[in-house]
Amino acid sequence: MTRPDVLDTLVSLAKRRGFIFQSSEIYGGTGSVWDYGPLGVELKHNVKARWWNAMVRERDDVEGLDAAILMHPRVWEASGHVSGFSDPLVDCKACKARFRADKLGDAACPRKPSKKPGEHADCELTEPRQFNLMFKTFMGPVEESASVVYLRPETAQGIFVNFLNVQQATRQKVPFGIAQIGKAFRNEITPGNFIFRTREFEQMEMQYFVEPGTDMEWFERWKEARLQWHLGLGLDRDRLQFHQHTDTELAHYARAAFDINFDFGGTLGFQEIEGVHNRSDFDLRQHQAFSSKKLEYVDQVQNKRYLPYVIETSVGADRVTLAILVNALREEAVEGEQEGRTVLGFHPALAPIKAGVFPLTKKDGQPEMAERLAAALRKRFPVFYDEAGAIGRRYRRQDEAGTPFGITIDGDSTANDDVTIRFRDDMGQIRVATSQVAEVLTRYLEADHPRADSRLVG
Ligand code: GAP
Repeated sequence: MTRPDVLDTLVSLAKRRGFIFQSSEIYGGTGSVWDYGPLGVELKHNVKARWWNAMVRERDDVEGLDAAILMHPRVWEASGHVSGFSDPLVDCKACKARFRADKLGDAACPRKPSKKPGEHADCELTEPRQFNLMFKTFMGPVEESASVVYLRPETAQGIFVNFLNVQQATRQKVPFGIAQIGKAFRNEITPGNFIFRTREFEQMEMQYFVEPGTDMEWFERWKEARLQWHLGLGLDRDRLQFHQHTDTELAHYARAAFDINFDFGGTLGFQEIEGVHNRSDFDLRQHQAFSSKKLEYVDQVQNKRYLPYVIETSVGADRVTLAILVNALREEAVEGEQEGRTVLGFHPALAPIKAGVFPLTKKDGQPEMAERLAAALRKRFPVFYDEAGAIGRRYRRQDEAGTPFGITIDGDSTANDDVTIRFRDDMGQIRVATSQVAEVLTRYLEADHPRADSRLVG
């Protein structure tokens, strides 16, 4: 079954509600670069925090790092990016469009009627030429070849060159890992599909250093752990699958690789959101050779030195955010109402706003009580106070923002000091004492369950 294509709906919802805007939109936009608005920045922050907690804070065998984007240019010679990080590019002399030579079958000629590149009578495609995807710039005031530096195309190399710094500073023993979250840049030839493939994006990468010979066992463990992490975000099980790289797909550094693919629906279908790679000792060996610095690990128990093998888990923060948005979007009918509703059914822990606080009317002390409650809750969660319009419309606005809980202060609230909590997913309601609201919300936010239903957490 092909799932529907929801990207156009999402692009307009994301703009309307302040999740994601096109970069430099008032100047006509920058190609495949996007800005995260107030809700988007919270959503992506929650994704990154969840990754950091799972990969660093909850483990004692993985350390954090924040390496710089600009690195010594030799790093990229050692890693193979200067010579090999390129895609085959073809130009069409007739329409001036550019395509990846290896993806012509998936591409569309920009002219009408809609055809593939090369299919219009006057299409004139050039021979493929290699196009390096790294962005170049110059360090210092002189623009000459000696001062060329690159914007990193992956965060991983910052980890490899710091392997011994981290190991010696923390006295970790192999096996152990180093994790970081950071921006990466790729001058993609055919970017697109909203934030799926962009030229500036964020990666969450972890390199796990292991003794050679134990690498495939760790590879299997990390593969499974990473799938479980995606399931924990609330991504549907039947939208996730592994894809094993064949010999022709394997990167130059990889001994084995699996992608975790997510079904984005429509023509995009199943696409990679994360790669799990067995990189052998390729990177450490290369950096050792290019820097002439020994990068061996000294195993004092076994009394031997070796270059560890590396299991890498590499996931795009933006791509997972898109998967979460696609997975969460629902347009559904509401019983007894003519208009349906649009819902972003995020896992409560990922939702940008945790609760909307609504006085039913603007009188009888309701706004004052609601504002007091909102201010108290805001110390613990992002909360949105709204007193404008009919209560049904206020709920709908928060459904569309993915807010899991709506707290309503009504005529009885001021007398009894209690409120109604309305749950986003089943629209069920419970009545609780005002002093209990934060505790009820916390139970949901800390639960593993990805839905905000009134009957889930007792
Ligand atoms: N260090 C290994 C590495 O970078 P990759 O498969 O090229 O491997 C890993 O990238 C992840 O980074 C991908 O699974 C994807 O989630 C994300 N990613 C890569 N290129 C991207 C792009 N142009 N836009 C958005 N995300 C991207």
